[in-house]
Amino acid sequence: MANVTVVGASGYLGGELLRILINHPEVDEIVPVSRRLSNKSVSSLHRNLLNIFDKKFVDLNLDGIETDVAFFAAPPGEWFSSLPGLIDRGIKVITLGGKFRIKDAEIDKEVYGGYENKELLSERVYGLPEIYREEIKKAMFVTNPGCYPVSVILGIIPLKKFKDKVDLEKIVVTSITGTSGAGATPSENLHHPEVSGNIRPYNVLFHRHVPEMEFILNEFFGKIKISFTPIISDMKRGILSSVTLFSDSFDIDVNLNDHYKKHYKNEPFVRIASEIPNVANVIDSNFCDIMAEYVPDSRRIIIISAIDNLIKGGSGQAVQNMNLMLGFDEKMGLNMIGGHP
Ligand SMILES: NC(=O)c1ccc[n+]([C@@H]2O[C@H](COP(=O)([O-])OP(=O)(O)OC[C@H]3O[C@@H](n4cnc5c(N)ncnc54)[C@H](OP(=O)(O)O)[C@@H]3O)[C@@H](O)[C@H]2O)c1
Repeated sequence: MANVTVVGASGYLGGELLRILINHPEVDEIVPVSRRLSNKSVSSLHRNLLNIFDKKFVDLNLDGIETDVAFFAAPPGEWFSSLPGLIDRGIKVITLGGKFRIKDAEIDKEVYGGYENKELLSERVYGLPEIYREEIKKAMFVTNPGCYPVSVILGIIPLKKFKDKVDLEKIVVTSITGTSGAGATPSENLHHPEVSGNIRPYNVLFHRHVPEMEFILNEFFGKIKISFTPIISDMKRGILSSVTLFSDSFDIDVNLNDHYKKHYKNEPFVRIASEIPNVANVIDSNFCDIMAEYVPDSRRIIIISAIDNLIKGGSGQAVQNMNLMLGFDEKMGLNMIGGHP
């Protein structure tokens, strides 16, 4: 059994972490941390948890905490400096924000600024089990991937077998996300009248998830360049990514979707679909649905992938990592199925 602490429990990912961990058979105590709401009941904010988890939030004080796992579902902050002490005391740490995802001190600093700790950076394991499962099992410190990178990396990685056949420097990715991707803090751009019935590209010149996708993929491909257009829609949650790669020499006898099925045949949370995936089928679940095809007429490979940004793109992914780090069944607590319609 495990005791866990959730820093940022008042946020969207923190709330979803609580919802998953409450039903986790191996978790017997959850400490929900919030600086703003300490001493208020969790269910007065996360009203879906009324009569289920009415415990009070506690203030952020990590000195001497006794816990098996500490989740940090919080933006960059002074809490970074407490990580080495936690790890030294044998507490497993899972961060859900961007800092430390890119294992290159210069890029990490350029993209995420602030706190530098080369030792932590070299110790971190990127928390995508479909690629780094064995490393995650042994890790003390795991950085969860970004939400867009989950959908894009899982979509591209099976192509490593064909990496000499595709133009790696011209990969075009368009991703549509829901508004919860921006977190719970209100902003003018996300005000209901601005978003409702609307769809709007943003950060088209630079999005900080691009260096992350390129860094991870380049461990396998060598020289990937991604042209990325993120689009915010009026869905509240979900990401649909469309990835296009070009190839003049792809063998038209290869059934790409079958290759993907083989590649992911032992993965509990990646489903290769014969129909084009859509967001509704993965919402509330830890699944990533993918379809991949080669289109000979336009000499392109098209990959469509769908996830719930708050689950496989965040809290479900973090629990999958916790399960691996603690030696539990990887699927434990994550048997949610999306609804239909
Ligand atoms: N939303 C997504 O789809 C998504 C997906 C993947 C990754 N992420 C990343 O995960 C992190 C959390 O995202 P979110 O969407 O859940 O954000 P959120 O809804 O804004 O919640 C973050 C929570 O963190 C707490 N917090 C803020 N600053 C803090 C600090 N300096 N120290 C400790 N706690 C602090 C706040 O709680 P109190 O003020 O009550 O303490 C806040 O409620 C972010 O780094 C985000 O980039 C988000």
